[in-house]
Amino acid sequence: MIVVTSANGIVGIREAIEILRGGGSALDAVEAATRLVEANPDDHTVGYGGYPNVMGEVELDASIMDGRTLRAGAVGALKNYKHPISVARKVMEELPHVMLVGEGASRFAAEMGFQAENLLTEEAAEVYRQGISGALPEDKRDWLTGGIENNLARLAKITADPERAAGTVNFIAQDNQGNIACAVSTSGWAWKYPGRLGDSPIIGAGNYADNRHGACGCTGWGEIAIRCSTARSVVLYQRLGFGLEQACRQAMLDLAHATDDPASAIMSLVAINRDGRPIGMTTIPGRTYVWMTPEMAEPVEEPRIVVDLTEAR
Ligand code: GLY
Repeated sequence: MIVVTSANGIVGIREAIEILRGGGSALDAVEAATRLVEANPDDHTVGYGGYPNVMGEVELDASIMDGRTLRAGAVGALKNYKHPISVARKVMEELPHVMLVGEGASRFAAEMGFQAENLLTEEAAEVYRQGISGALPEDKRDWLTGGIENNLARLAKITADPERAAGTVNFIAQDNQGNIACAVSTSGWAWKYPGRLGDSPIIGAGNYADNRHGACGCTGWGEIAIRCSTARSVVLYQRLGFGLEQACRQAMLDLAHATDDPASAIMSLVAINRDGRPIGMTTIPGRTYVWMTPEMAEPVEEPRIVVDLTEAR
C-alpha cells in the first residue's frame, strides 16, 4: 500500500493513508485527499482560491481513474463547485459517460446535490487584477475598459502566465487489494481563455491508472501533455517492458517534440509501477514529490529526478 502525491498534496496525504490503514479503497483515498487540497485557500492552483480565467471566473478541471476497471470520470471548466474531484467521481459512477464540461458539468453537480459557492477569494482576485493589467503594455490597457469580453483572445494570449500555469495536484494510491487509483485536480492555467481545458481532466494526458502496469499523474503545461498523452505513455511504456524510471523518462522526452522550446518546457509527473514503487520526475530542478506507506509515521518529501528535454533532439 502506498500514496504518492505532488508536493502540494502534503495537506491530504495523511488522510489518504488513514483510509488505506482502515482497509478503504484506493479510490476513496485519492478522492478524500484531493478534496483537502481543493479546500485549501492557500493553494492557488487547485479548487477554492484557485486563480481565475481571463474574465476573472474560477474554472476547475479534475479527473479520477480506477485502475481495476479502467473506469474514469472527469469534469472540465466547472464553475462554482469546490470539489470537482467528487463531481468527476459521480460522473464515473452515475453516468454512462467519462467527461462533462461547462454548463452540463454544473447542471450535473447540482443534480447530485453539491452546493454551489463562490470560489474566487479576495487574494486570488487581487493577483488576477494585477496580473492582467501588469502584463499589458501601456498602449493596450484600453483592452480592459469598454468590455473585456471584446478582447478575450488577445488578452489571454498576452496575459496568460506560464509560471502560474503549472500547478495541479496529483494523488496515486494502491490499496490492500492491490488496486490502483489516480486523481488529478486543478484550476488550470491562470488567466486562460474561458473554456480552456488542460491535461488534468483528459484521461491519458494528465491521469492514467491501470492495475496491471501502474499509474501516472501530471502537473505542468497541460497543452503538451495532451499532445503527447503523457500519463498513458508512462503506463504503456511499462506495459511494453520499460522499467518505471525508463518509462517516465521516455514519456518526458517525448514532450520535447511538442514544443518549439524544450529547454523551457514545464512538466512534472508522479507515477508508480504495479508493485507500488513511487517516482517523481520533472523538467524543473528543485521540484519535489511526497509519498507515504501505512507503516510510516510521516510522509517523505523527495527531490524529483530532473529530465533535460533538449536531450531528445
Ligand atoms: N496541468 C494543468 C493544466 O495545464 O491545466
